[in-house]
Amino acid sequence: MSDTSFKVVTIAGGTGLLGFNITYACLNDGSYKVKILRKKPESENNNANLLASKGAEVIYVDYNDKNDLVKALEGTDVIISAIGRTKELLACQRALLNAAKVVGVKRFIPSEFGAELKETTDEMHPFLKPKDEFFQELKNSGIEYTMIITGIFYEYLGAIGFDYKNKKATFSVDGNTKVAGTSCADIGKYTVESLKLPEVRNGTIRVAGFVLTLNELLKKFEQITDAKWEVSNDFTLRQRYKNNTAPVPTIWDDFYAYVIANLDIKKLHNDKFSFTPQPVTEGISALVKN
Ligand SMILES: NC(=O)c1ccc[n+]([C@@H]2O[C@H](COP(=O)([O-])OP(=O)(O)OC[C@H]3O[C@@H](n4cnc5c(N)ncnc54)[C@H](OP(=O)(O)O)[C@@H]3O)[C@@H](O)[C@H]2O)c1
Repeated sequence: MSDTSFKVVTIAGGTGLLGFNITYACLNDGSYKVKILRKKPESENNNANLLASKGAEVIYVDYNDKNDLVKALEGTDVIISAIGRTKELLACQRALLNAAKVVGVKRFIPSEFGAELKETTDEMHPFLKPKDEFFQELKNSGIEYTMIITGIFYEYLGAIGFDYKNKKATFSVDGNTKVAGTSCADIGKYTVESLKLPEVRNGTIRVAGFVLTLNELLKKFEQITDAKWEVSNDFTLRQRYKNNTAPVPTIWDDFYAYVIANLDIKKLHNDKFSFTPQPVTEGISALVKN
């Protein structure tokens, strides 16, 4: 059953890697008036130009100015936040939520799109805490929400240890660890189709183009690059970071080591959607070509 009550969808961060794909899918769907919010000051952006040429309204906002945001959001039924994981993410999403309450937005999809957040925050990586803090505020806001969990973007497979330029894999967890992933184009489609699924109100959607062990993924990289890869393990990465023992990895190394251990997705909801996601082999082929 479709929810036909949503007419206007506003995407914050619509020019970004994922935001572009969500906005594109929304315009392709054809059921919605689509707006994208860009942060002031105005700047040239190819993605914004392309989306505007396809019918999106581009609105510049000051996320620190509530009146500005309220004006921009007037008439909006759904906010999709695809703002990048910057240090302003919590403040921007909070400002959007406050303005959303004023104008009566019906649903808010927060900028998640990765590993599922754990209920306990003790062990949560510092990069994910602002997302979790916002999610708790969203749950208590009275506005409908949908969390979308996708695993790693195909475009980011390199970050979890697959150095396809040098044909080297470095695993920070056991090779039998399962990880899930989805292409940004498919995440765009899942996000937009979720607006027509009443059962996802105040819930979590878990989708993925693949769920494989790191060893299985490595085999696919090897097949596609037609080469035997050098494989090494660095299981001490997180521990070294936590204990500040040399050689100390960067916080990004630490983040990806944390994320890999949390990337498995159980009980996928793929079958609620109308399409089959892109196979990971296609995502890998696109990566290694560049
Ligand atoms: N699962 C994964 O593998 C994975 C990988 C990457 C990202 N993610 C997640 O996916 C989401 C989107 O990430 P992304 O990589 O697509 O984002 P991104 O491309 O880095 O940024 C998206 C947009 O955010 C806006 N933005 C940037 N800084 C801002 C600020 N200070 N205030 C307001 N807006 C700002 C920009 O739009 P304007 O300049 O037009 O305003 C930008 O185009 C995030 O939640 C991120 O954590 C997941």
